[in-house]
Amino acid sequence: MNEVFPWREAPKADFAVIGYPIHHSLSPKMHAAAFEAAGLSASYVATEVPPGEVGSALDHLRSLGYRGVNVTVPHKEDAFRWCESTTDVSTRLRVCNTIDLERRHGTSTDGQGFAASLADIELDGKQAVVLGAGGSTRSILEALLKDGWHVSLWNRTKSKAEALILDFGFDVTLLDEPNLLGANLIVNTTSASLSGERLPLDWDEVLTPADALAYDLAYGAGLTTFLKDAQSWGIQTMDGRKMLMEQGAAAFEFWWGLPAPREAMLAALQ
Ligand code: ATR
Repeated sequence: MNEVFPWREAPKADFAVIGYPIHHSLSPKMHAAAFEAAGLSASYVATEVPPGEVGSALDHLRSLGYRGVNVTVPHKEDAFRWCESTTDVSTRLRVCNTIDLERRHGTSTDGQGFAASLADIELDGKQAVVLGAGGSTRSILEALLKDGWHVSLWNRTKSKAEALILDFGFDVTLLDEPNLLGANLIVNTTSASLSGERLPLDWDEVLTPADALAYDLAYGAGLTTFLKDAQSWGIQTMDGRKMLMEQGAAAFEFWWGLPAPREAMLAALQ
């Protein structure tokens, strides 16, 4: 657990992650390890920002001399609105998870992190099923489509998936049921894992389990229910740690213009 500062009581530091709640964020540990490995003298703290206070909190951290922040749930859209300029991907997706405070310049490294986490994985085909239509889903869809995947999208509340597709013009197939037939990659972007709930999936629809990957954006101690179920069907599994590291590495590179020490960052998450 992090030492957490309410944003009004933030200490003098260089970087922060803002979110609500923020106690369990691994970003402080990961970025401290990165700074140390890169020989940079900088500090990184966890700052709690309740909903509705993002703009004031970012103004405050900026006035304290913070150089940059990472932004996590549920603030990525408010953070985008605070920025004066954003990178292309951030502008397209209307979210920001990384900000250069001085320039009020933001970006979104989630999609890049997700794509990088899959870079070494070889699967039999390019059929993906994405589950969920929450805050992180848009970055995942954008990254998959950019990488040439055929994507089907299912969400418990279908209208939310529909709205997501319309809002961003994603070229994906909308599913009524979470049909896994022929899927090579199944990405769980829902928060069901966080509450230990099971999604209504028929894993036996995955025809070539050994050549398929079940990917849960969540992570924690041990496998999530989603990954345990997939594993019991002989499907490869991956949790959200590598994506967390890769999005953090991209944030590090955005702030410092130096290559991120990825191994040290990943080691800090184990
Ligand atoms: P938000 O929707 O406010 O952005 P989120 O935590 O990013 O919040 O998204 C939660 C996602 O997990 C949603 O897609 C949600 O589905 P609904 O849109 O139907 O609410 C999904 N989710 C959470 N618990 C779930 C469960 N038990 N089964 C299926 N989907 C679940």
